[in-house]
Amino acid sequence: MEIQSDFLVLGSGIAGLAFSIKAAGLGKVSIVTKKATVESSTNYAQGGIASVTAQTDSFESHIRDTLESGAGLCNENIVRYVVTEGPGRIDELIDWGVMFTRAENNKGTLYDLGREGGHTHRRVLHASDLTGREIERALIEKAEQNNNISIYENHFAVNLITLSKLTGVPQIQDRCLGAYVFDVEHGCVHTFRARFIVLATGGSGKVYLITTNPDIATGDGVAMAFRAGAEISNMEFIQFHPTCLYHPEARSFLISEAVRGEGGILKLKSGATFMEKYHPLKSLAPRDVVAKAIDTELKKSGDECVYLDITRRDRRFLENRFPHIYRKCIELGIDMAEEPIPVVPAAHYQCGGVRVNEHGETKVDRLYACGEVACTGLHGANRLASNSLLEAVVFAHRIYTRISMVYESTQEGIIEIPAWDPKGAAESDESIVVSNNWDEIRMCMWNYVGIVRSNKRLERARRRIDIILQEINEYYWNFKITSELLELRNLAMVAKLIIECSCARKESRGLHFNLDYPGRDDSDTPKDTIITKAILRGLKKNT
Ligand code: FAD
Ligand code: SIN
Repeated sequence: MEIQSDFLVLGSGIAGLAFSIKAAGLGKVSIVTKKATVESSTNYAQGGIASVTAQTDSFESHIRDTLESGAGLCNENIVRYVVTEGPGRIDELIDWGVMFTRAENNKGTLYDLGREGGHTHRRVLHASDLTGREIERALIEKAEQNNNISIYENHFAVNLITLSKLTGVPQIQDRCLGAYVFDVEHGCVHTFRARFIVLATGGSGKVYLITTNPDIATGDGVAMAFRAGAEISNMEFIQFHPTCLYHPEARSFLISEAVRGEGGILKLKSGATFMEKYHPLKSLAPRDVVAKAIDTELKKSGDECVYLDITRRDRRFLENRFPHIYRKCIELGIDMAEEPIPVVPAAHYQCGGVRVNEHGETKVDRLYACGEVACTGLHGANRLASNSLLEAVVFAHRIYTRISMVYESTQEGIIEIPAWDPKGAAESDESIVVSNNWDEIRMCMWNYVGIVRSNKRLERARRRIDIILQEINEYYWNFKITSELLELRNLAMVAKLIIECSCARKESRGLHFNLDYPGRDDSDTPKDTIITKAILRGLKKNT
């Protein structure tokens, strides 16, 4: 089946939905999402969305904090743009029905503002500790009311369709025409054709064994864009959140940084504090510093976790401010009002991604990227807490504005797109291959491409992932596709891109720490790492 619309949006998190709501004012939008609409990292966001709304705060301060956190690699123009656009986009979210927690006693601000690591001011708007769920609820409601938006749930984007793929002739300026999409329930692949295609598929936390991310975060967008010829940047900067709950029955549950913002202190098993040895902001230092400090302390002590102590706050406050975290802890037998919470660092956020310019445009014409899948230049080498939801709404608007200017003059191409060729049509009899490779990739990335890296570890990871990629490639062409196989193929590709970007950076900066280059190289202007299919082919030839 061929489905045609003006806009094809891949993903239904904050980026995909915010863009779609706007684009629906121009034309028909198809949102393709691989599970239920609500399933996204957005839905699990806790801390909130950073923006300057208090009179005591300033744009310059938010800009400085973002640049400081980004360790010299942010694009300052983008930082300025995102920060100053922030309040306008927050007003829009409120207009669309998002209910942020209001300030008690109206202490100079209408909304209660949280504080998180690396922020010098309270500036994080939140909906208690379920901010993402509230944003997703409001945006889904808004999108579902719009007759110009059709949402295709359980539809998995497999590959982008480009002019060069269709014609078999490499194009100097390639163009995206749509995507092949696997209809999971019916087991068939449809062609989605559109005038403009927006990738909003989120991040890739599942590449790592321990992650705060939900199951959808398998890096599909980065892998698809890479295969389609787009540039991928800065994949070495994987952010590890310092405080993921350490409990056998809740492996991906986040304990928000906002808990430290309200006075939570990191401690060792002995009860001793340790962050004062690493940064003047102690437990509220930027995430890269805190995660690395915990990693160092755990390696020194041999303990399995550290502890987050917020017992200085009373029970009523904790129940009100963190109802979700409080309840989850109680369910698991941890009373956060009485005892410290066991925590470990976990892969949390992909700072790099599909490289875009200030309008959200990739190198492939008509292909845009928005949200965690994109590398806009905002985060540099380490994202400032709660800047991700902000980036998504600012860039959704940016892309919409850009497309609005060319919309009328951009016509639908009349190139015929062939239906998907199923190639290997056999049912798989070896699903064990998929699950073994899945586990091996995640373990290998955790052990060798984690918080602390070295040339030897990276080389080891490279060798293993190359073998796995080869195995998956053989398997992929021989059997019928399934969601699991598609995710595995993308996960392996993203692991490869993280390793190659890590190998390319001959210094330690922000989230990338390599024992063989322990210092930051400030001898020249810091550069982004960029990887494309052609660059990867070149690397293979030279090894
Ligand atoms: P997502 O919200 O992840 O949405 C991606 C969408 O794409 C999903 O609908 C998914 O199903 C779909 N998709 C993926 N692949 C395919 C495919 N192949 N075909 C079809 N559909 C596909 N950031 C903050 O700023 N503040 C916070 O407080 C905060 N807290 C967080 C807490 C947690 C636990 C986590 C995991 C992240 C948190 N973050 C936070 C980060 C932030 O939530 C994400 O970066 C942001 O929500 C990403 O939004 P997105 O729209 O780009 O992607
Ligand atoms: C958190 O609540 O700690 C997550 C915030 C973020 O990832 O920006």
